[in-house]
Amino acid sequence: MFAVALDGPSGAGKSSIAKAAAKELGFVYVDTGALYRTIGLYLLEHGIDPKDGARVEPVLPEIHVELQHDPEGQKMFLCGREVTGLIRTPEVSMAASHCSAHPAVRAFLLELQRELAQKSNVLMDGRDIGTVVLPDAGLKVFLTASPEERARRRVKQLRESGQEAEYEEILRDIQQRDYQDTHREAAPLKQAEDAVFLDTTELSFEEVVKQLVKLVQERQ
Ligand code: DC
Repeated sequence: MFAVALDGPSGAGKSSIAKAAAKELGFVYVDTGALYRTIGLYLLEHGIDPKDGARVEPVLPEIHVELQHDPEGQKMFLCGREVTGLIRTPEVSMAASHCSAHPAVRAFLLELQRELAQKSNVLMDGRDIGTVVLPDAGLKVFLTASPEERARRRVKQLRESGQEAEYEEILRDIQQRDYQDTHREAAPLKQAEDAVFLDTTELSFEEVVKQLVKLVQERQ
């Protein structure tokens, strides 16, 4: 099996780029952020503060997270209910970022992620895939873009999916999540030493996909 670890901050375009590259390569795309989002949604729905590790840890065994690959994209299920769309709100983004700081939450999702990489060739996107989840990945890429560019892209994406989005608010959210994701103690977002650094601020979507596909083909 060949695994590609794609890490980087939120809104760097990882998911759409990874999805397109995986399709071209015939790999399975795995969006690990969706796993943390699904846990974040459960906590919000049950009135549990995602920052409160002492309350989050005991409920983890009740949370059944399931992922289904679909030609349209990855589908997420929480305790048997499809939540693919529900996990894409700004509230769930923030809850996911908060709950992902707890080592117990990370440990809870680790095996699931590793199992997925054993079953097929994967292109897995997240924050700690190259550093923690798949340290032996055949290729590691750290994908980023400036916070302003990421905010512009996120606004466009949200508006296209019919949601309201305000640039200043999204930019603040991105900066706050960047801070949280890079400063947490458990598996913080950081570039693996052997990762290829790819800054997409000045690149078009097609250019980035092309570069990623080329990198995979060279390594495979
Ligand atoms: O990629 P995303 O925006 O959907 O991720 C949501 C949150 O989940 C993000 O703030 C950080 C966390 N996350 C993580 O800690 N580790 C991962 N591998 C993926 C996401």
